[in-house]
Amino acid sequence: MLQVEKLNQYYGAAHTLRGVSLNVEKGQCVALLGRNGVGKTTLLKCLMGVLPVASGKVMLEGREITRLKPHERARLGIAYVPQGREIFARLTVEENLLMGMATRPARRAGGIRAEIYELFPVLKDMLGRRGGDLSGGQQQQLAIARALLADPKLIIFDEPTEGIQPSIIKDIERVIRLLRERGDMGILLCEQYFDFAHALADRFVVLSRGEVVASGVQEVMQGEDVKRHLAV
Ligand SMILES: Nc1ncnc2c1ncn2[C@@H]1O[C@H](COP(=O)(O)OP(=O)(O)O)[C@@H](O)[C@H]1O
Ligand SMILES: [Mg+2]
Repeated sequence: MLQVEKLNQYYGAAHTLRGVSLNVEKGQCVALLGRNGVGKTTLLKCLMGVLPVASGKVMLEGREITRLKPHERARLGIAYVPQGREIFARLTVEENLLMGMATRPARRAGGIRAEIYELFPVLKDMLGRRGGDLSGGQQQQLAIARALLADPKLIIFDEPTEGIQPSIIKDIERVIRLLRERGDMGILLCEQYFDFAHALADRFVVLSRGEVVASGVQEVMQGEDVKRHLAV
């Protein structure tokens, strides 16, 4: 589904991504692990087309998308749940959700589908509230719901547990597990919180200073090798 081949990216003279390669298959959750500052968000922004890459390739379902614009990638089925959530604070919850359907005008006419409220019951009672008035955890749920409304083939999460209270982390874990079990999309889950990623991922990729330093199937993710790259 998603193939990333030898991506290099620079901020000025700083070589931020160094030959990063990874794959995500349909129905699979791949955890991208690594400490603060190793380049996780930079990589995700390159995948979304928000940042240009110096070299390397990004392929979605066999098609090269390396130079496509963000909205073109969104239309092809990549959705992004950004770090810090990036909810439109002055728009209502409903308006935020409708934004998620901007690339799906035909669907948009049909309104927000009921499934979204089954996944996130809290949003149903808050449709008229402003995004900025929601708690951090509610905003995270809204950001995930907004991404799902784009009917993605690939959904990318950037540290969805960051600053979120444990009970809501459980809710988010349940939703990501459900999406994985449904088997119709690829999931790229960027995390520093090891236990959360471990509970959900089929495979993992560990990033350190812009480089992939370990990768493998979920079973070997317990290893000290992986934890060493996450510990502060
Ligand atoms: N807009 C930017 N301009 C210059 N350097 C940046 C910018 N954004 C991030 N960086 C640097 O790039 C590196 C990787 O950052 P980032 O991708 O945000 O890491 P992570 O998401 O893993 O915490 C860090 O050293 C960070 O300081
Ligand atoms: Mg980040």
